[in-house]
Amino acid sequence: AAAEGAVYFIFGATGDLARRKLFPALYSLYREGKLGDRFAIVGLARRPRTDEQFRDDVHESIREFCRYKPAEGGEWAAFAERFSYHPLDISNVDGMRQLSETTQELERRYEIPGNRLFYLALAPDLFGTVSRTLRDGGMLNSPGWHRLVIEKPFGYDYPSAERLNEEIRQVFREEEVFRIDHYLGKEMVQNIEMIRFANAFFEPLWNAGHIANVQITLAETVGVEERGAYYNKSGALRDMVQNHMLQMLTMIAMEPPSRLDPEDIRDEKVKVLRSIRTFSSPEEVRARVIRGQYAEGSSKGKPLPGYRQEESVPADSATETFFAARMFVDNFRWAGVPFYVRTGKRLPVKSTEIVVEFKNAPRNVLFARKQELQPNLLVIRVNPMEGIYIKINAKRPGNEMTIQPVVMEYCQSCLVGINTPEAYERLIFDAGRGDSTYFTRWDELAAAWQLVDPIAAAWRNNESELHFYPAGTWGPEQADALLREDGFRWWPVN
Ligand code: BG6
Repeated sequence: AAAEGAVYFIFGATGDLARRKLFPALYSLYREGKLGDRFAIVGLARRPRTDEQFRDDVHESIREFCRYKPAEGGEWAAFAERFSYHPLDISNVDGMRQLSETTQELERRYEIPGNRLFYLALAPDLFGTVSRTLRDGGMLNSPGWHRLVIEKPFGYDYPSAERLNEEIRQVFREEEVFRIDHYLGKEMVQNIEMIRFANAFFEPLWNAGHIANVQITLAETVGVEERGAYYNKSGALRDMVQNHMLQMLTMIAMEPPSRLDPEDIRDEKVKVLRSIRTFSSPEEVRARVIRGQYAEGSSKGKPLPGYRQEESVPADSATETFFAARMFVDNFRWAGVPFYVRTGKRLPVKSTEIVVEFKNAPRNVLFARKQELQPNLLVIRVNPMEGIYIKINAKRPGNEMTIQPVVMEYCQSCLVGINTPEAYERLIFDAGRGDSTYFTRWDELAAAWQLVDPIAAAWRNNESELHFYPAGTWGPEQADALLREDGFRWWPVN
């Protein structure tokens, strides 16, 4: 079904996110008929630009980043005419009033029933101001719905996130706020529910009785690129763990919801977050969390700079570019099962994978004692390859009774003709139809901050060591030791 008619406002329309993700996503939705006929898109930013210039930018971005190539001639013109640009100082109420008038014209022209979606691709400290000027400039007086879509980082810690939330909530209701975590828009993250709840042979085993540990790896080969100024304040903990990593963990660990409704699912996710064992003292942080930073290294023979040599990064920065931790979900289902999470920049591969390691079959007389049984694994490949595989033990062909691990794989991204929508495409579509399942609710966010804040505090007070690792390697040795202490190891990620 197509989204109801709406005007989409992109704040920060001249920025990187709009160019790389949002315009291409809107175009894909358009090509698939998911925007319907009654829509308009308004780009907003400070700098002056004509509609024509803006449409050229949009064309360029779609050509470069969209899975559909821009149509030619009249077809393109029909899409492009829905785009307009409005220069705006977001703190200026008069500017908003003008915008409100232009919007009413657009709504008349395209018979849009007053639905308005505000996508803030802006620095979070502007969210409060925009919300207020939207209200004071009359932008929320139209007859339809109003939705605010916002990007991370949502706050810097729990108190700042709470302040930010209060500012927004003075204007918008919780149901109107859609907090993006683009990992929740990924095909395979959404697929976790199906794999778990639509199969007879996973859910009965999905507990501490049968699962030895869970490993969630989000590895990147890139460094901080030109984002040094942002990243240095954020670090892996805030950039990746507080949001993407914890979201994946909750999808794996949550109880089956009573219905597949947004609120039911999010209720279950909050329960997981609240069950995660806290890092209540610096000792806990030292024992269960490893922080690392990449030093000079190399990849495929090419030298790579260390983090401290990157642009806009202070030469004595203690910001972490690598994070690994042992976490526990202290509830009946997961008692005692370690969840290992790790993420880092400048690792050897770009790959996100979730490995569920099952407990070994009991040793038994069928197999010679000298044979080591490998555990069964379920591997969910999230990014960039999409699919799942399981590793099971089978007899090696031949006369010997030898066991070997074999892989059974479903490779979704290998299927010809499957061109899965990008995360942003799904999420914008969902926001357009008001489905908030894959957006972060405030209580989830609050619980996630409360969990990571003590880690940040221990680091800030230098109560735990910063380990260096050469760029292009799998992070500090201590991250391996974390699993070794428990008799496990990281399964290789492809
Ligand atoms: C973003 C982080 O949220 O996620 C980036 O800010 C990171 O630092 C990116 O590179 C990774 O996303 P993906 O989809 O490329 O795995």
